[in-house]
Amino acid sequence: MRKPIIAGNWKMNNNIAQTKQLIADLKPLVADAKCDVVVCAPYTSLAAAVEATKGSNIKVGAENVHWAEKGAYTGEITADMLLELGVEYVIIGHSERRQYFGETDETVNLRVKTALAKGLKVILCVGELLNEREAGITPEVVRRQTKIALTGVTHEDLDNIVIAYEPVWAIGTGKTATAQDANDTIKIIRDCLKEMYCEKCGEKVRIQYGGSMKPANAAELMAMPEIDGGLIGGASLKAEDFSKIVNY
Ligand code: PGA
Repeated sequence: MRKPIIAGNWKMNNNIAQTKQLIADLKPLVADAKCDVVVCAPYTSLAAAVEATKGSNIKVGAENVHWAEKGAYTGEITADMLLELGVEYVIIGHSERRQYFGETDETVNLRVKTALAKGLKVILCVGELLNEREAGITPEVVRRQTKIALTGVTHEDLDNIVIAYEPVWAIGTGKTATAQDANDTIKIIRDCLKEMYCEKCGEKVRIQYGGSMKPANAAELMAMPEIDGGLIGGASLKAEDFSKIVNY
């Protein structure tokens, strides 16, 4: 019922030449994908990515966006600037933004609201730290992150939201949440959406898993009823690995 969506998060990798090459390699490998395919690139590679994906089934996303219309925000980028390039998606609230760049639930909410108002599709990241998991507060953490991030977001806006559940301890570490654990936490997020909006609203939102997802574990994760896709970091940098996940 929910169409799966597999997105690559290139992070701070791939210059323009590498972007062109990776997308050229990827295109034939994912042409028959049954899921939505997105690559999220650094700002400086976005124009090249949009150009290289033209006429293909690959969509392009950015890795962040600011909430203001314009102004004195050195180093930031507006939604209009992304739209001007032909970007369709944007990742918001990635744990690396939260950990290293002072992103909070409140700034995530501001970014989400502006991105949606401007017509970007949002991949909203939530997920617990290792100490939070060990303290048994994963449900509280993901519920808080989800609720604050979506404050002021309407039922209709939900059509343009994908949530990525990324346990922080599983990102780039080679440790994957078990498929069952990932499924259970995603169910908690979905139930939270149902409480906030309505039963059907919660059912329609696609929720991805992210954190050391790779060809070897993609099929098992994707077989879980609550998992609607993946947000892929390391394994999205190689066309072969990423395409294997897309064609799980
Ligand atoms: P990883 O990253 O696949 O390298 O663990 C996932 C992410 O940070 O989105």
